[in-house]
Amino acid sequence: MSSRIVTLAVDGEIAVISVNNPPVNTINAASRQGLFAALADIRSRAGISAVALVCEGSTFFSGADIGEFSGPPKEAEYRDLFRQLEQLPIPVVAGMHGVAMGGGLEIALACHYRVAVAGARFGLPEVTLGIIPGAGGTQRMPRLIGVEKTLDLILAARPVDVATGIALGFIDAEISGDVRSGTIEFARALVRDGAGPRPTAERSVDPKTATPAIIERLTQQAKSQYPNRQAALTAIKAVSASATLPFEQGLLYEEELANGAKATIESKALIHVFFAERDTRKVPGLPAEAKARPIASGGVVGAGTMGGGIAICFANANLPVTLLDSTQEALERGLAVIGATYDSMVKRGRLTAADKDRRMALIRGTLDYSELAQADVLIEAVFESLDLKRKIFKTLDEVARPGAVLATNTSTLDVTEIAAATRRPQDVIGLHFFSPANVMPLLEVVRTDRTDPAVIRTALDLAKALRKTPVVARVCYGFIGNRMMEGYAREAQRMVLEGATPRQVDHALEAWGMAMGILAVFDMAGIEVGVNVHRANADRYPPDPAYYQADFALHAAGRLGQKNGKGYYRYVAQDRARHDDPEALDILRRTAQRLNIPQRNHSPEEIVERCLYPLINEGMRILEEGVASRAADIDVVWCAGYGFPRYRGGPLFYADTIGLKTVRDGMLKYRDLFGPMHWQSAPLLDRLAAEGSTLESWEAARNRAQGASK
Ligand SMILES: NC(=O)c1ccc[n+]([C@@H]2O[C@H](COP(=O)([O-])OP(=O)(O)OC[C@H]3O[C@@H](n4cnc5c(N)ncnc54)[C@H](O)[C@@H]3O)[C@@H](O)[C@H]2O)c1
Repeated sequence: MSSRIVTLAVDGEIAVISVNNPPVNTINAASRQGLFAALADIRSRAGISAVALVCEGSTFFSGADIGEFSGPPKEAEYRDLFRQLEQLPIPVVAGMHGVAMGGGLEIALACHYRVAVAGARFGLPEVTLGIIPGAGGTQRMPRLIGVEKTLDLILAARPVDVATGIALGFIDAEISGDVRSGTIEFARALVRDGAGPRPTAERSVDPKTATPAIIERLTQQAKSQYPNRQAALTAIKAVSASATLPFEQGLLYEEELANGAKATIESKALIHVFFAERDTRKVPGLPAEAKARPIASGGVVGAGTMGGGIAICFANANLPVTLLDSTQEALERGLAVIGATYDSMVKRGRLTAADKDRRMALIRGTLDYSELAQADVLIEAVFESLDLKRKIFKTLDEVARPGAVLATNTSTLDVTEIAAATRRPQDVIGLHFFSPANVMPLLEVVRTDRTDPAVIRTALDLAKALRKTPVVARVCYGFIGNRMMEGYAREAQRMVLEGATPRQVDHALEAWGMAMGILAVFDMAGIEVGVNVHRANADRYPPDPAYYQADFALHAAGRLGQKNGKGYYRYVAQDRARHDDPEALDILRRTAQRLNIPQRNHSPEEIVERCLYPLINEGMRILEEGVASRAADIDVVWCAGYGFPRYRGGPLFYADTIGLKTVRDGMLKYRDLFGPMHWQSAPLLDRLAAEGSTLESWEAARNRAQGASK
């Protein structure tokens, strides 16, 4: 028997089911169909004593096809397939390599024995997508390793290695050589030893692994590890049921819970972000004939905070990079910071000393522009000054080889104006990294009206090589992320002048799900950073005397944030905690008095609404203006770059879940309270709220219209 995806071969008395479903052997309808056929074929044959199940390519089944989650439930089909596998009257061995996650591991649990080659990894990460293992994993795994360890694995949601799998008890042995022959050999040994089938379903769960104390500990852990979320708690319900329910009933209970989990906003949001991140590189309207230019080396101008981080990204991607600064002192300081960053990784066991040396050797410092002449991409990261950047781009235009991509890391300046300093504006693009550049996954790719589509593609390829999530934006002040940040941060600062404490504001935002309250973020980034940006852009200010005045007042009092131990909070050297600081509160109070800002009480709901509604509102403007080409791109910017909770799907997905009318009514409510200056709702929001529509359906209609006009 042979299908394109699943092949059955007989090697002596061993039947070998081999699956080849590139790129990563996801289990989808076609692979399930092939497996059913292979099992039927095996049942019809005589003389087979054992079965080996293996995959070709880079990995064993990597998992179930996530694209199927939104379709009709597949649990019954999985149950049937895995039952047929488990009920074969001869030993069935899963031979694993690569990374077997979720459904990929669950199919192995339905086999009688599991072996793996060195380097293989296994996990049940479903809760990170808001779901639970739904192909028998919550019932089979506890029959192998107990309830507690199963839930430890599920809550950790991280893959474990072969040694851990053996120690936990769900892997029988590590095999050597290639996975196919190792698995066949293991199966032969079973036959030789007279070992029979060993159905997981027929084992019982050790009740000592599911005591009330254990379940309580895991429940508390789930609540603190996954606040505002249900999936981990649902997984606890499903797995602990394995200790009391007969296997078949347990499977039905798992199905009920799994389908409930799939229907939650949590899971829809997480799956939305998963696909949104995967799809940011598909840029609508980019001509197919625009081909990326090869990138084998880079150059970075400015060895400061960002330039150093960007150089590390290149070295980590095994790309040689030349780092230029204007003085020997600045260059040496930059290289020393890079060295210290790697040292701390070595110290934490994240890198070997040899790797550090290899990566440092890829970074070459220079003061001489001619050494940038061969680089394929040049990224400028000097001080935020248009004159300076234009001067540097003029020089880069003189030295860079034809076809090199010239990029700026500016956060606020007009990329079109920077490009105009060169004779090749078509090669100029914004590459807006986030700090620390070697850690943060987001990369805003800013195209001007003249940027060559091939340069955009090159930037997208570079992002992939540097392991960044790129989002393409058009030129505007603040691009996508910082432009949306304006209203969000403005309201947070305004509220501390209205009498809310920094802790109250940050706590409300964090309890809602933001990774870090915005005032604590300012303390971390340095209060002078925001002050400098606002000073440089004072001509864009709305006529609001309270605008960002909390930052200015703290800054004037010498409070720079964490770096000098005082900002919105006070910091002490011994710990990393934020302490309330009466001095800061006093400064804020006096500023409010001077500015005549009425005082009010702020509920957590008001804090969240006042920060989020302007954020969403600006996102809708950005979408309608075409600065972002998709709502999902905006969601990715905020999830990958600003700590927006993925389980809420990003600002625009979230807006649809609470209803655009709710957002619009909120904008009106605060407009009545605080006046129209900052509370003008976006035309798109007005329109869709009035129609009772969603962004999702608006976008779908727009895509259909665009498709029709092509
Ligand atoms: N720091 C952030 O969080 C952040 C985030 C995103 C983007 N950015 C942007 O990145 C750029 C750099 O910011 P930073 O925080 O790394 O600044 P920084 O002050 O840490 O570093 C700037 C570096 O540029 C060097 N430099 C100055 N003039 C130069 C010249 N003529 N030739 C060569 N080198 C010169 C300086 O010596 C310094 O090493 C800015 O445009 C900033 O807006 C910063």
